[in-house]
Amino acid sequence: MNKITAAITCVNGYVPPDLLTNKDLEKLVDTNDEWILSRTGIRERHILKDPSLATSDMAVIAVNGLLEKRGIKANEIDVIIFATITPDLTFPASANILADKIGAQNAFGYDLAAACSGFLFALETGSKFVESGKYKKVLVIGGDKMSSIIDYTDRNTCIIFGDGLGCVLLEPNEEGLGIQDSILKVDGNGRHYLHQKAGGSLKPPTHETVDAKEHYVFQDGKTVFKYAVSGMADVSSQIMERNHLTADDVSWLVPHQANLRIIDATAERMGLSKDKVMINIDHFGNTTNGTLPLCLWEWEKKLKKGDNIILSAFGGGFTWGAIYLKWAYNS
Ligand code: UT7
Repeated sequence: MNKITAAITCVNGYVPPDLLTNKDLEKLVDTNDEWILSRTGIRERHILKDPSLATSDMAVIAVNGLLEKRGIKANEIDVIIFATITPDLTFPASANILADKIGAQNAFGYDLAAACSGFLFALETGSKFVESGKYKKVLVIGGDKMSSIIDYTDRNTCIIFGDGLGCVLLEPNEEGLGIQDSILKVDGNGRHYLHQKAGGSLKPPTHETVDAKEHYVFQDGKTVFKYAVSGMADVSSQIMERNHLTADDVSWLVPHQANLRIIDATAERMGLSKDKVMINIDHFGNTTNGTLPLCLWEWEKKLKKGDNIILSAFGGGFTWGAIYLKWAYNS
C-alpha cells in the first residue's frame, strides 16, 4: 500500500457583508486613505457588525458550505481544529460550539491559538491525524472576529484588521499529493510586541483593565514588521531549498496578509513573480487566522492538481512558518 498523505480536498470561506473602508476610518482616527494604502496595501475590510454573532457563526456558514460542496454530512467529520484568537468564549472551545451548531456528533475537536500562524499550525496538526490512518476527515478552520478586540480609536491597529474565516477538509491521499513538508517556529520573546494585555490569568478582567483598554490588540508595528519580513522570507526560502524547488517549480505562494510590503519582500526572496502570489489584503485586510484559507478559497478555481504551493505566515507570539503542499484536485 502507498504511504498515506493528507490532502486538502475542499475549501470554503466566509466574510461578513458589512464593509469598513479607509474613508470610513478617516472619520474615526487621524489617518487617510493614501497612507493606509501605501503603507499596508489595504483598501477595505469586512466587519461582523451584528453584536449577537461570534466567530463560530462565521464558521457555521463556511463549514456548511464546504460540506455541501464536498457532498458529505457533518456527522462524517472526525476532527475539528479551530485556529482562532477570538473564540466565542474562553471555554468551551469554539470547535465544540461549532460541532453542536452543525451537528458534527462524531467529531472531537479543539481550538488552537497561534495568532496569525494558527492556520499553518492547525494544518500541520490536522495532517498528522490523517497520516496516522485513524482519522479520515479532518476539518481545519482559521478565522477571527478581529473587530471584537480592536480599539477603533487606535490608528496603529484599527486600520489593519478585518473579520473573516476560511476552512479546508483534509483527507487521505495515496498519490503522494497534499502536505509535503513544514517549518514551524515560535519565539515567546516576541510576546512583548504584539499581545492583548488583559483578560487572561495574568490580568483577569476588571473595571480598571476595561477602562485602560487592555482587552484590545496592542502592537508595536515597527518591531513586528522587522521580524515579520525576515521570518517569513527565511522559512519560505528554506522550505524551497530543502525540497529542491526552484522559483519555476513553485506554482503559488499563499502568504499571510498582514502588510503588502511583507508579502512583496517574501516573494522577492523566493524569486517569485507577482502573478504567482495570492494577495487579497486590499479587500479583506488582516483577518489573522483567516488570511491563508481565504486566499485558497478565492483562488481555488485557478489551482490545478499537482501544483506546488507554499503557505507562509508570521504573527503574534512570535509564531511563524511555512508549509509546502501539492494541490490534490481540479475544481
Ligand atoms: O499579522 C500580525 C503581524 N503583524 C504585522 O505583520 C504588522 C507589521 N507592521 C506593519 O504592518 C506596520 O508597521 C504598520 C502598518 C502597523 C505601520 O506602518 P509603518 O510604516 O511601520 O509606520 P510607523 O509605525 O513607522 O509610522 C510612520 C509614521 C509615523 O509618523 P512620524 O513619527 O513619522 O511622524 C506614525 O505616527 O506614520 C504615522 N502613522 C500613521 N499615519 C497615518 C502611524 N499610523 C498611521 C495611520 N495613519 N494609521
